[in-house]
Amino acid sequence: MATILIKHIRTLVQASQTPLGVVAGARMGGLPVVEDAFLLIEDEQISAFGSMNEAPNEADSVIDATGRMVFPCWCDSHTHLVFAGSREGEFVDRIRGLTYEEIARRGGGILNSARRLNDTPEEVLLEQALQRLREVQRYGTGAIEIKSGYGLSVEGELKMLRVIRELKKHSKMAIKATFLGAHALPPAYRENREGYLQLIESEMLPAIEAEGLADYIDVFCEKNFFSPQETERLILAGLKHGLKAKIHTNQFNCMGGIETSVRHGAISVDHLEVLNEAEIECLLSGNTIPTLLPGAPFFLNDHYPPARRMIEAGLPVALATDYNPGSSPSGKMAFAITLACVKMRMTPEEAINAATINGAAAMELQHSHGSIEQGKAANFFLTKPIPSLAYLPYAFGSDLIDQVFIGGALVA
Ligand code: NIG
Ligand code: FE
Repeated sequence: MATILIKHIRTLVQASQTPLGVVAGARMGGLPVVEDAFLLIEDEQISAFGSMNEAPNEADSVIDATGRMVFPCWCDSHTHLVFAGSREGEFVDRIRGLTYEEIARRGGGILNSARRLNDTPEEVLLEQALQRLREVQRYGTGAIEIKSGYGLSVEGELKMLRVIRELKKHSKMAIKATFLGAHALPPAYRENREGYLQLIESEMLPAIEAEGLADYIDVFCEKNFFSPQETERLILAGLKHGLKAKIHTNQFNCMGGIETSVRHGAISVDHLEVLNEAEIECLLSGNTIPTLLPGAPFFLNDHYPPARRMIEAGLPVALATDYNPGSSPSGKMAFAITLACVKMRMTPEEAINAATINGAAAMELQHSHGSIEQGKAANFFLTKPIPSLAYLPYAFGSDLIDQVFIGGALVA
């Protein structure tokens, strides 16, 4: 059994002797830390941690972390990391005054990515996705959810999900796959919505189940995309095939997506740039985790979710990057954390809880990831020497994440 001892850690962050679980409301403002700490890894797991005066004397390898902090890796519970090419042309169109929704109505946006994806061979797609996965690993991400949704055809959706399956073979990161066939209505079905819903139900979902390609189902519940009624129908179809729901909703409009998702026990509802009081009440009545993606309103120059109000109401909040080529072309969790602090007035402690244990819970990984606990996966990173925890979101342009370990192995 190979052991690694990290000693003289200035602050070991999110380290708990008892299982942490989802952190909600006022509790989000606190983080369990150990000052002047050690961390012991055995193979792929955390075997012990505590104060330096209780540290073991030896290990197969020893790292001196004097002046540096150790965090559990980020848990990025919402990404679209498999995509073909890029969409900086739309970025320029928006600078010139078009909106995200106008670009979508002209056949750009998601449909632009879908055309490119269907023209790209699986190996090329895998190569591009692997580069992005390695990139986010360097940024400290150790668990990630990745969606399909740029195929919008049986072949294209399966191709994306197979790429996600391949990614798992190349990385020790925890990877969850989400089927997002209902991301947009493909042009061939413009006059036949029912036909596309039936295609999802009778061809895509059975094929996905047969190959075991997905963990979750997602729907883009939004004006001009899919209605709450269609969302409900697809959540139920997903459940029949063993997929729980994680739903895109309330990005631009309050339409009932939250109520539908909570009623059917969705694991998470994501975006929530617009959110009313009744929806906050509804979230309080269930276990669905509200997941905020500040990279999207930043990049679309839109307004941000009411995170303060949500936390004050007692809700847990998770943070994710939404890494995708249209609304958030960045997989950098540290930047999402800075945006959460600056634009949503979350404290660094709240943002770190949201990006670790609550993100893990939004992927049902809270028992194995998202904190430093005995028996959890040895996914953690060492910072460069920093004066305090708040320095991480504060110095937002600096590259402060130094060494990243995933499954007990140094990967970056
Ligand atoms: O989460 N809102 C829908 N889906 C993505 C964006 C997809 C795209 O523009 O390619 C999102 O923002
Ligand atoms: Fe998204």
